[in-house]
Amino acid sequence: MSNIVANPEKYFRQFIPDRDSLWIELEAEAQHEKIPIVGPVVGELLFILARTSQSKKILELGTATGYSAIYLAKACEMFKGKVVTLENDRDMAARARQNIQKAGLEDSVEIRVGDALAEIAKSDEIFDFIFMDIEKEDYIRALSDCQRLLKRGGLLVADNVGFKDADEFNQSISTNPEWRPVSFFAYLPLHSPENDGLCIALRQ
Ligand SMILES: C[S@@+](CC[C@H](N)C(=O)[O-])C[C@H]1O[C@@H](n2cnc3c(N)ncnc32)[C@H](O)[C@@H]1O
Repeated sequence: MSNIVANPEKYFRQFIPDRDSLWIELEAEAQHEKIPIVGPVVGELLFILARTSQSKKILELGTATGYSAIYLAKACEMFKGKVVTLENDRDMAARARQNIQKAGLEDSVEIRVGDALAEIAKSDEIFDFIFMDIEKEDYIRALSDCQRLLKRGGLLVADNVGFKDADEFNQSISTNPEWRPVSFFAYLPLHSPENDGLCIALRQ
């Protein structure tokens, strides 16, 4: 007989991390408007990874309403760190700006409006932590610039790698000696979608 709790999905919902009302508002808005956001479990994971790695310069590809950017900004606030987040939808970027202001984090987050792939291709800023959350088919196209822009010993987190469109990225990062990745499929309550893959990779 299995030692796993009965109904693990129901069981693990009781451990969804507590969070401020702004995040809860953004979750409700995202559900209503079908905006894919990471939700509180992956948000908290991003916070813990960024905080424990003492990341000061964080890059995010794909801002949406600023939900994950707020987790990342709170993680690096105590190190006087900064999040640069890239969003190609002007209206979404304006909403994120408002939400980041509401969170009082406007000095810690810079939202750049434009194509993330074009932005990273022309950048030479070095980051401690990169969170990838744009179109999944573009992950493979972003990978070599992320490799160039992430410091050795830095972390790359890629969301939604359970999507078929992330397959080329998954295959590539798992065989590239510049990376030490772990990729897994999990039940992630309130993540969009709740059953999905994540990749966490150390830049070697
Ligand atoms: C999955 S959502 C991001 C969710 C956000 N990271 C969160 O969890 O709160 C993806 C966002 O990336 C934006 N996006 C998609 N492709 C992009 C690109 N090439 N450059 C910049 N933004 C892009 C979309 O407009 C969308 O707002």
